[in-house]
Amino acid sequence: MDKKATLSLNDGRTLDFPVLPGTIGPDVVDIRTLYGKAGVFTYDPGFLSTASCSSAITYIDGDAGVLLYRGYPIEQLAQHCNFLEVCYLLLYGELPDRKQKDDFVSMVIHHTMVHEQLARLYQGFRRDAHPMAVMVGVVGALSAFYHDALDINNPEHRSISAFRLVAKMPTIVAMSYKYSIGQPFVYPRNDLSYTANFMRMMFAVPAEEYKVNAVLVKALDRIFILHADHEQNASTSTVRLAGSSGANPFACIAAGIACLWGPAHGGANEACLQMLEEIGDVAQVGKFVNRAKDKNDPFKLMGFGHRVYKNHDPRAKLMRETCHEVLNELGLHNDRLFKLAIALEKIALEDDYFVSKKLYPNVDFYSGIVQRALGIPTSMFTCIFALARTVGWIAQWNEMISDPEYKIGRPRQLYQGAARREVVPIDKR
Ligand code: SDX
Repeated sequence: MDKKATLSLNDGRTLDFPVLPGTIGPDVVDIRTLYGKAGVFTYDPGFLSTASCSSAITYIDGDAGVLLYRGYPIEQLAQHCNFLEVCYLLLYGELPDRKQKDDFVSMVIHHTMVHEQLARLYQGFRRDAHPMAVMVGVVGALSAFYHDALDINNPEHRSISAFRLVAKMPTIVAMSYKYSIGQPFVYPRNDLSYTANFMRMMFAVPAEEYKVNAVLVKALDRIFILHADHEQNASTSTVRLAGSSGANPFACIAAGIACLWGPAHGGANEACLQMLEEIGDVAQVGKFVNRAKDKNDPFKLMGFGHRVYKNHDPRAKLMRETCHEVLNELGLHNDRLFKLAIALEKIALEDDYFVSKKLYPNVDFYSGIVQRALGIPTSMFTCIFALARTVGWIAQWNEMISDPEYKIGRPRQLYQGAARREVVPIDKR
C-alpha cells in the first residue's frame, strides 16, 4: 500500500501527501503540491530536513558512518580501485571491466592538455592570488575555449564536457600552482597514470627528471577517491542549482569551486592545518578545545563536525591510515603536526561537549597533514579537493540534466520585511 503523510491545518483541513521510499535510507514526504493546496511553504533554512532531488549516485548514513558510491563502500573502493575506476563508476553507475577501464583511461589521458591560449589567462592574475581564485576564473573561462560542445541537451556534448573537465582539472590545478611560485608550466605526459601525471606537473622542473614515487602516487590517488563525491553537499547543490538554469557545465563547475572554497566546506582542510600550526604544541590543545566549546568564541575545531555524519566520517579513518603510510614512507613518522592532530582527536573524542554534539573528525581533519607531507602547499589543499570532486559534480549535474522531470531550482522564502508602504518624496522625508 502506498504510504502517505497527513498535514492537519489549524483551519480544520487535512491534506495527504505521498511518502516516497528510497532504495535505502529515509523516506521522503513529497510536498510539491503543498503551496498549491494549502498556500503555505515549508521552512528549512540550511536544508536540515530537505531532500532537494532524487539521486542514485552516493549514499551516506551519517549515524552509521557509511559512505557508498553507487552502492560500493568507500573502504572497498579505496582498497581495490584507483581514482579513474571510481570516476567511471560515478559517471556510468558500474565498475568498468578491463577493456572499459583501458578505453576510459585512454580517453581521459588524451584530453589532459589545455588550449595553449588558456595559459595566457593566468598572466592576468597576481602571482600571490589564492589558487582557488585562479581556479574559479580559469574553469569559468573554459566555456570560452570549448564552445563546440555546450548543448547540454545533447548527451554526446555532455559526455565530451565530462571528459574534458575530468582530464583537464589536474593540468589547470598544477598550472595554478606553478604560476603562484613563478615556475614554468609542465605539460602532461601520456605515458604516466592520471595521478602520477598530476604530481609530475606539480613538482617537475625543466632542470631535472622527475622521479615518480609509487607510494606517494597511490596515497594521493586514494585522497582523490575519498573526495570524489558526497551526496548533496553545498558545492554539489550549487552545481545542480546553476545547472538547473541550463548554464553550461564549465560555468556550473566554476560555481561549485567557488562554493567549495568556503572554510565551512572544502576550505576546512586549509583552515585545519592553519589551526594546528596556531595550536603549535600538545600543551596548548586544551586551551583551543575550550575555545571551541565557548559559545562566545567563534573559534571552531576545523576538521571536526559534519552536517550528516554523527558518527566517524569513514573517510577520516582512511585518511588517517594514508597519513601513516605517507609519513612512514618519507621517514616523517614523528611529524609534529601529525602527533598534534592525534592528540587533539583523542582529547576531543573524550570531551563531553564533542561527544554530546556528535562531533567527529571529518574528511578534512587529516587530509591537510597528508598533503603537506606530499609537498603540496596549504593554499593548494582546496584545489586538490576541487580536482577530485569535479567527477562527482559532473555526475550529479549529468544525472539532473538527464532527468526529464528536472526544473529550474527556485526556492521561496518566509518574508519578514516591511509591508507595503508609500514612497515619500525626498524633500518631505
Ligand atoms: C566538508 O556536506 C558535506 O558532505 C561536506 C563534505 C563533502 O565531502 O562535501 O563532507 C566536506 O565540508 C566537511 C566539513 C568541513 N568543515 C569543517 O571542518 C569546519 C568545522 N565544522 C563546522 O563548521 C560544522 O561542523 C559544519 C559546518 C561542518 C556542520 O555544521 P552544521 O551541520 O550546520 O552544524 P552546526 O554548525 O549547527 O553545529 C552543531 C553544534 C553547534 O553547537 P550548538 O549551536 O548546537 O550549541 O555543534 C557545534 C556548533 O557550535 N559545532 C562545533 C563544531 N562543529 C559544530 N563546535 C566546535 N567545533 C566544531 N568544529
